[in-house]
Amino acid sequence: MLTSHPVKGFALEREPYRRKIEKDMFSEQVYRERRNALRKKIRSGLIVFLGNGYVPMNYPDNTYPFRQDSSFMYYFGLDLPNLVGVMDLEGGRDTIYADDYTINDIIWMGPQTSIAEQAERVGVQMVRPRKEVVSEVSKTVQAGRRGHFLPPYRGEQTLELSEWLGVSPQRLSQYVSKDLVKAVVEQRSVKGEEEIAELDAANEIGRDMHLAAMRLARPGKSEHEIAGILDGIARGYGRVPSFSTILSMNGQILHNEKHDGILKEGRLLLVDCGAGALSYYASDNTRVTPIGGRFTQKQRDIYEIVLDGVNTAISLAKPGVKYLDVHKAVCKVLTEGLQGVGVMVGDVDESVMNGAHALFFPHGLGHMIGMDAHDMEGLGEDNVGYDTEVKRQDQFGTGSLRFGRRLQEGFCVSVEPGLYFIPELIEKWRRERINVNFINFSKLEEYLDFGGIRLEDCIVITETGCRVLGKERIPITVEEVEEEMRREI
Ligand code: GLY
Ligand code: MN
Ligand code: MN
Repeated sequence: MLTSHPVKGFALEREPYRRKIEKDMFSEQVYRERRNALRKKIRSGLIVFLGNGYVPMNYPDNTYPFRQDSSFMYYFGLDLPNLVGVMDLEGGRDTIYADDYTINDIIWMGPQTSIAEQAERVGVQMVRPRKEVVSEVSKTVQAGRRGHFLPPYRGEQTLELSEWLGVSPQRLSQYVSKDLVKAVVEQRSVKGEEEIAELDAANEIGRDMHLAAMRLARPGKSEHEIAGILDGIARGYGRVPSFSTILSMNGQILHNEKHDGILKEGRLLLVDCGAGALSYYASDNTRVTPIGGRFTQKQRDIYEIVLDGVNTAISLAKPGVKYLDVHKAVCKVLTEGLQGVGVMVGDVDESVMNGAHALFFPHGLGHMIGMDAHDMEGLGEDNVGYDTEVKRQDQFGTGSLRFGRRLQEGFCVSVEPGLYFIPELIEKWRRERINVNFINFSKLEEYLDFGGIRLEDCIVITETGCRVLGKERIPITVEEVEEEMRREI
């Protein structure tokens, strides 16, 4: 049981976290209800959810940490390797195909609860040896019934599914069940109360990671050291980071995973990190702190434009609103702000229509969040973020928006505008005269070594609006951040 945390000031004995370390599953009823809801959407055939196995790093017994497939986890809830969950839609029966533990496993892994007993905890009575799944699937397909499966994203999944279904690995993608993808996306997009509670808990841990980063952002510290402490905070709660921590003075490099800098007074430190709960529900937040503890006026000006962007999005997000429109409203706020400091000029609407803001904001406003930081992305970004009504645009910047469709109550999405000064991109636009009517390139000279600012919170859509996930918002105003930086770690 956790009684203290290695980082002073983060000795968290708060009850919900302890409980969640001990209990990482929902009730049997939750999993039954999820499968029953799926049955109503897909009426015939066999649904095959292929759980993940271990993946070797460099030799078979040295593996990456085990990560269950999120859709398997959603419907079958067992965080164990090499399981297959099968729903027989006509027969109305769910089966887990798995090999039970042998004495050899127990010698290496200690006593284990039998698979049958664990399956009962997710409402599955039937457990069969794993090799029998091959004949079950083949029999179904030969009888002319449909074998529904989701797009595989690992080589071994592709090989297994192609063997079971009798199609070549090269052609397997043609047989992915569009009906199943659609049904799963529809169901997993709307988070239940039990999921939102997990997301809130993950955000609490993410908050502690960010508070530590703010307190540690002092000249002379190394990025490696701070990143290691943040990852350690997640691990101290029995969790892991939900994605590779981005922590860099070069915030203008969007997914910069290098941590090789030594913090310099006067620079900005961008930290984009989060924790995954044991149930895998993730947090994903970004904050930017001024190394040394005080924003310069120039940094503050840009920071407050981005903050205005985040808060504008949060004020607009509610059921029925297209996230693409929220993205565009934020683009306008960013453009107006940049006109205020003199690096952009011209008519704001026209500027946004022409995509001029994308020189500074070359990505989208956000993505869904759930069991994965980019929730369900493995099912196809457009299947998750777009639909028949809202299509992905192809303009630079807005084209990178991962999620654009209408919001519904229970959707959880990230809100993450940013302003970046990418010298290579600025030079390209200047040279090629892209959007020259909206950009003041000579004023921009003053910003070439600025770096970048992104601010990110995740929200849940409520009946009338939205709220930021987590009990307490991570410090975000200039004053809150500077105050947090004065605290001792
Ligand atoms: N950390 C990746 C993202 O915010 O999408
Ligand atoms: Mn994000
Ligand atoms: Mn992020």
